[in-house]
Amino acid sequence: MSAKYELLLENAEQVVLVCTNGERFLRKESMQNLAIAEKVSVVIGKDGCIKAIGPGSTIHAQFSKSSFERTIDCSGKCVLPGLVDAHTHPVWSGDRVHEFSMKLAGATYMDIHQSGGGIHFTVERTQGASEEELYTSLKRRLLRMLRAGTTLVECKSGYGLNLDTELKMLNVIERARRELDIGVSSTYCGAHAVPKGKTATEAADDIVTKHLPQLKQLMLAGELQVHNIDVFCEKGVFDLASTRKILQAGKDAGLQINFHGDELNPMKAAELGAELGAQAISHLEEISDEGITAMAAAKCSAVLLPTTAYMLRLKQPRARDMLDAGVIVALGSDFNPNAYCFSMPIVMHLACVNMKMSMKEALAAATINAAYALGKSDSQGSLEVGKEGNLIIINSPRWEHLIYQFGGHQEIIESVIVKGKVI
Ligand code: NIG
Ligand code: FE
Repeated sequence: MSAKYELLLENAEQVVLVCTNGERFLRKESMQNLAIAEKVSVVIGKDGCIKAIGPGSTIHAQFSKSSFERTIDCSGKCVLPGLVDAHTHPVWSGDRVHEFSMKLAGATYMDIHQSGGGIHFTVERTQGASEEELYTSLKRRLLRMLRAGTTLVECKSGYGLNLDTELKMLNVIERARRELDIGVSSTYCGAHAVPKGKTATEAADDIVTKHLPQLKQLMLAGELQVHNIDVFCEKGVFDLASTRKILQAGKDAGLQINFHGDELNPMKAAELGAELGAQAISHLEEISDEGITAMAAAKCSAVLLPTTAYMLRLKQPRARDMLDAGVIVALGSDFNPNAYCFSMPIVMHLACVNMKMSMKEALAAATINAAYALGKSDSQGSLEVGKEGNLIIINSPRWEHLIYQFGGHQEIIESVIVKGKVI
């Protein structure tokens, strides 16, 4: 007789459920009160979804031992939800290690960008790369993220700028979404920089009149799934007016608004995002008090990126002020040629040490709230019956070790499971 259920995880010391009542996000005190069950087992069905969570005796009374395809003994170990990385730029050719030494010697991000390097350097290399080459490197990067515990990742285009290369990047992301185990949320970020020889207004016009209609057609034809629209709203890149125009057009095309704002200069991007109904805004090192209030009221999530502030020696995002005001705080690695970090455990560690978040807040931000930032928290981001069976098993009797052991996740993460499948 073939097994009825895919997987049984038995007798974990702690299972971090995160939440238990179908919450789509956590904020304020609820981030401090994560649901954690002790000495429980988890059942995942053939459809990849969680069927039951409970004490071993209850599970054994309910399910016969032979009904599982596979059983893993989790005594002495902890189970956590798969991590969600709410902000990455993983499709590109050519690294920027030479710029790292320039930055260490004192050059700022914008110095390098304005002298034609930074994003422009990567755009040139990516425009010249084949789809196959980009897919091969994307696959390698996503598999590294998966091994570091990420089971859902947001992937941006944005090193193409022209329509052909942006489509090439989105096709590569689409292929990864279809072929790899990791969950992918795809973001069109054609407004990542102003192409050389154009103004921001001209670039915004191209996006609204040429790129988005073409994208919409491909989406309707079922050739491409794109979920989010992004703009780098920054002094010297896209100003507030161009940002508004692009985001509104993206929203009209059916995309969720999820953009870069208030990173290097205060731009009132948070206020704009709240007004437009953005699902998420990233960075926010320079957010205003009014922006914090507006984002909290609009349930617009803040995707904080501790690697970027660390790498560029920026002031830290005001995580505590945002948390206290009731903003839905999420985390992302910002993996890109500037911030070369695949690891959400390292991101959570940095969020705790540099942004003064507690470990529970950091975990909520890297699971349920990051899933909310991508509009996927109805099916991912916590361990609840009915949700996808995406989880990690760590080789420690206390879950906090995942964050505490700085950079030690390679050793501590024993298994990563996506929809019940052990990767
Ligand atoms: O989120 N700030 C804009 N975009 C990226 C950096 C991309 C790059 O430098 O290549 C970020 O940090
Ligand atoms: Fe970014």
